[in-house]
Parts: sequence; C-alpha cells; structure tokens
Amino acid sequence: MKSPLSVSHELATRWIRPSLRRLAGYVPGEQPRVRGLVKLNTNENPYPPSPRVLEALRGAIDGKLRLYPNPTAEPVRGKLAVLHKCRPENIIIGNGSDELLALATRAFVEPVPISSGGTRGKALDRATIQAFIPSYSLYPVLAGIHGARFLQIPLDEGFQLPSLKALQARARNPAQGRIVKSTEDPRQDQNGKWNFNAALSLITTPNAPTGRGFEKTRLEDLCDAQDGVVVLDEAYVDFAHDNAMDLALAHPNILVARTFSKAFSLCSLRVGYMVGNPILIEALHKIRDSYNVNGLGQVAALATLSDLPYYRSQWKKIVATREQTSLQLSLLGFRVFPSQTNFLFTQPPAFFAEKWNRLLRDRKILVRWFQQEDVSQFLRITVGSDSDMEALVSAVKQILKRLGRQ
Ligand SMILES: Cc1ncc(COP(=O)(O)O)c(C=O)c1O
Repeated sequence: MKSPLSVSHELATRWIRPSLRRLAGYVPGEQPRVRGLVKLNTNENPYPPSPRVLEALRGAIDGKLRLYPNPTAEPVRGKLAVLHKCRPENIIIGNGSDELLALATRAFVEPVPISSGGTRGKALDRATIQAFIPSYSLYPVLAGIHGARFLQIPLDEGFQLPSLKALQARARNPAQGRIVKSTEDPRQDQNGKWNFNAALSLITTPNAPTGRGFEKTRLEDLCDAQDGVVVLDEAYVDFAHDNAMDLALAHPNILVARTFSKAFSLCSLRVGYMVGNPILIEALHKIRDSYNVNGLGQVAALATLSDLPYYRSQWKKIVATREQTSLQLSLLGFRVFPSQTNFLFTQPPAFFAEKWNRLLRDRKILVRWFQQEDVSQFLRITVGSDSDMEALVSAVKQILKRLGRQ
C-alpha cells in the first residue's frame, strides 16, 4: 500500500481537476484573537445580536440538537416573505450568502470544457460570468471553481456605475474595451466589455470594497437590457438609503442576495438569502445540500426578524459613526469615498496604503489592504463602535505627527 508520504507532489496533483490546480482560492480577512485589537478588517458589526436573539439561541441549546434542522428553513422563509411582501417560493435561505452565490454559478452557468479552444457565440455566453471591478473578490474565484469564463468590467471614474448607454457603446466599439487579460484560454478571453448575453452578472450594490451606492435607475436599465440572470448582491444594503428588492420581484431575471452577517451581527452563524423568480429559486433549491442552513442559524434568523427595531437603531448609529469618521479622516488628508455601507474606502496621504496598513497594525488597529493592483492604493476600514473609531483616528494622528504632518 502507498503511504501518503511516498506519493510525490506531482503525482498527487494529477488527481486534482486540471482547472483547479492553478486556482488561487478566496482569501478571507484575518481573524486574529489578540487582546486589545481594534478589528476593522472584515466588515463585522461592532454591536452584538439583540438580547432576544441571544436568549432564543440559549433556549435552543438542548437535546434537540441531535435532530436535523428544517431542510428549507421554512419558518425563516415565511417570515422573510412577509417582510418583503412576496411568497416563500420567492426565497431560498443559504449557509451565508456566499453559498447562494456559489449555487447561482452552478445553476445558471455552463462550465467551459477545458479543450474548447473554439467555443464561440451563444455557447460562450452560457459559460460567462461577469462583474464590475473592483467588486467582491469572491466572484472570480467562484467562476474559476466552476470552470466558467469570467469577464471583469471596469467601473467609471470614482468607481461609479457606467450608464447603459456607455456600456452599449463600449460593447460596440472594438477600441473602447480595456484589455484586462487575454490568453489563448477562452475562459480568460477578457476585453473589459459588458456582455449583454452573459449567463450570470454579479453586481455588488452598494459596492464593496468601494462602499459606493449605485443609482437604482441605472441598475434597472442594465437589468432590463440583460438577457441572462443578474444577481444584485445587497450584503450591505441596510446601511444604504435605497435598495433594489422591488426589482427582484418585478423582473424575471433578477435575484437579490442578502445576508444576516453584517446588519444583523450573525457572521458566525452563516445565514443569507436570495429573493426572486420562483423558477430560478427552485433551480437553486434543487442543487443545494439537503440541510444547508444549520439549526441555530435558523433560530437566530427567526428571532432577528422579530426584533427589527433593535437593529434599525443600530444601523442609524453605525451610519452616524461612518459619517463622523469620514469627515475626520478627510480633514487629516485622506481621500474618502462616499459610503453607503458599514465601511469606508480611503486613499491615505503621504505614503502607500500598504505601509499605512502596517503602521496601523503596529498600533493594534487592523484594517484591510488588498494586494490587487486596481485597489492597492486604498484601505478599506470597517465602521466600528465610536471608541474603535476614536482609536483609529488617534493612531492616524500619531502616525502623521511622527511624519511632521500634524
Ligand atoms: C459583497 C459581499 N457579498 C456577500 C458576502 C458574504 O456574506 P455571507 O456569506 O457572510 O452572508 C460578503 C462578505 O463579506 C460581501 O462582502
């Protein structure tokens, strides 16, 4: 019998799907457990779930944990249907919204056969996932896992959503698409042009990591012109002044993804949902795991939906802290983009963002710096409690003082 150590790396690699061998997986933000650390790197809510949610969870920790949970999270779907004025058939609950995004790639997109150098036209569109850049960095990873072609479409100046007219003009004009990457591999045949026939378009709104909200009329124009499925990923929408849920209920090709992680302080329990056309939702149900949402997650989500006023007042607090911090950082020389989320996207003054990231970290403030070229000059800073943000601003002042800027 072969022992694991007697098999060479090269031989073992042969057993992995060729398209996965070179795939770089998604890199989540760090979760260090360091005393006194101000953690502003993963957009978690600084406030705990409501006391009623914690009580419901404590009440659910008993012998019934031996039983499987409700397979479709029916009570949660029922309550969400009332909240969004639709039917449970319009809703699927997931193990976080990440799971639902992955299911959408598997339900709506054909993988590109690895040997299909000649795949063109409709077949290629069926295999195409597209997203604006920068947006949620999980999307290209999902496309890579599925073996789909991934198109990255640049946003306009200041990370604004391009108008439908501009996207149409770019799509027609061979000179206007920015070349992002181009190889012989049809899955990487990217020219920066929006594809109106793509099987799946993923739009983060408000956007991450930039925090920008997108105008609803622009989103609707885009969705109207689109032949494939459009997922509007509204992970941060509760901190925004508008949302697009009504589009999902009025257009057959639009799905809205939401999560209990951010606005409802439940990252740890992994609950998200998608809303839209029952036929699309049914396709997602068909391919999900039988018990994809854990029992405690369902208990917490249900109790959350019975205590919405608690959360609404927290969102107000977070938005007020966001605006205050944005002003303070601007006065200290940071370029701060307008945010409709629970984080700020900023370009720091004086030296590179990577160095700021290190200097803040030395002062026990953890923010997010991304290595990707298009966003490497920026820091994404989660809005924490008022005292977290005071610690951040005071660390920034110390750093600037040492530079002689304050
Ligand atoms: C834009 C966006 N969508 C979806 C998610 C996933 O959220 P979850 O899987 O926790 O529901 C995140 C998490 O950071 C996100 O930033």
